Amino acid sequence: MEKYKIELKSEEDQQAEAARQLAFIEEAGKIVSEISESLGRPLYSTVVTFGCQMNARDSEKIRGIFAAAGFQDTQSEDDADFVIYNTCTVRENADQHVYGRLGHLNSVKRKRPGMIIGLCGCMMQEPHIVEKIRKSYSFVDLIFGTHNLYEFPELLVRTMREKKRIIEVLEATPYLPESLPAERKYPFKSGVNIMYGCNNFCTYCIVPYVRGREISRRPEDILDECRRLAADGVREIMLLGQNVNSYGKTLDVPVSFAKLLGEVCKIDGIDRVRFMTSHPKDLSDELIEAMASNPKVCRHLHLPVQSGSDRILKQMNRHYDRAHYMDLVRKLREAMPDISLTTDIIVGFPGETEEDFRDTLSIVREAGYDSAFTFIYSKRTGTPAAKMADQVPEDVVHDRFDRLLEEVKISAEKMCARFEGQVMDVLVEEKNKKPGLVTGRIGHNLVVHLTGDESMIGKLVPVRLLECKGFYYIGEPER
Ligand code: 5AD
Ligand code: SF4
Repeated sequence: MEKYKIELKSEEDQQAEAARQLAFIEEAGKIVSEISESLGRPLYSTVVTFGCQMNARDSEKIRGIFAAAGFQDTQSEDDADFVIYNTCTVRENADQHVYGRLGHLNSVKRKRPGMIIGLCGCMMQEPHIVEKIRKSYSFVDLIFGTHNLYEFPELLVRTMREKKRIIEVLEATPYLPESLPAERKYPFKSGVNIMYGCNNFCTYCIVPYVRGREISRRPEDILDECRRLAADGVREIMLLGQNVNSYGKTLDVPVSFAKLLGEVCKIDGIDRVRFMTSHPKDLSDELIEAMASNPKVCRHLHLPVQSGSDRILKQMNRHYDRAHYMDLVRKLREAMPDISLTTDIIVGFPGETEEDFRDTLSIVREAGYDSAFTFIYSKRTGTPAAKMADQVPEDVVHDRFDRLLEEVKISAEKMCARFEGQVMDVLVEEKNKKPGLVTGRIGHNLVVHLTGDESMIGKLVPVRLLECKGFYYIGEPER
């Protein structure tokens, strides 16, 4: 097992660093207004996010800093003066996607040489990737890692001032980026980081290497942030971590995730609480009880199973077997009969036989998922699985993948239909492309399209779920 020395600085140092970075935002603001005065127009920035909810939240912080420095947000990379790609490296195709889009950005930059291009996120924590970009992508101006987010204001100033390439990638987190401004995608819902990193070392997974060891934020800081968000109009909070079920174990005074969840629910103004991601090995009875006894906790759990075969689960270093997983499903359904379960599944892990794969198909049937993210195993350099014998041939994997999709579809359609005719609260999120319709979600995370207008966005509305269309509902507000 790789070991990193975690050098999280003291609370006092954290505050001093936060103040230093806030000063850099001011300085960036001065540079931005100088440049826009000379150009006679505002400066535009854009942040493109790849990967998971953690990255999405990090991007909100980057956007918040851009905004505080006076940049105007644009959706169009072609018009932006500063473009940041916040990358993911969980699977090979995530990397390829970034390289592909970088090629396009290069051609844009040739026409507009003043454009600044930055890369950050999980890919940048891999030395061979940084090396490749350093050598072959000379038009990239700034590279920083997941542990350097706290100093983005400083990097912004340096990139604009120094006009030379800057690369800053730390191996662990010295300062948490929590005091930085954030620009939320939705005014009425927000992610809140409760922990960073992962200690699990599933044999296929690169995350522990790129996100480092587990660090939990202090509960009082998390609750303060949630209260501030509530005061700012947030009604739904998603508590975020790679493995939220092991929250609090590394704190000076250990606190369980179930306790934290209970405390977040007590905050006035917060109507819904979700969380991601749960590891089955750490899902406690205490948490099931906390979910069941608290109506603010959404009746949805994302519980990645990865495989239905005990042999493969062992090879994956998941620390649970099929029986344990199904026991959790049974307990969850006993405590909350209507709960929605979703999952992640990997097909084609090294050594996976037809029999192993059939175990995966049968667990999908038994568990009754509302939906599942299905992935083809992707070999990640540096992980134990990359060195395992018996990598499964591509045609076999693709055949299994298609069969799995079919099984998931059958399960999802059956599960989704179970609320037809009922009235449920929908948090309205956005206007639908079709005029006269808006779109939102029920607590179970299912999407509902309903008649309505913009004034409903951000509100919890009771809606009759008229018709299930496979994966979503058509509904009508109850008056
Ligand atoms: N190959 C395929 N899927 C992977 N995941 C993580 N690592 C890999 C990999 N090397 C999937 C897991 C995880 C989700 C976020 O991504 O299913 O739960
Ligand atoms: Fe991708 Fe994992 Fe990084 Fe999220 S934490 S962006 S899934 S590599």
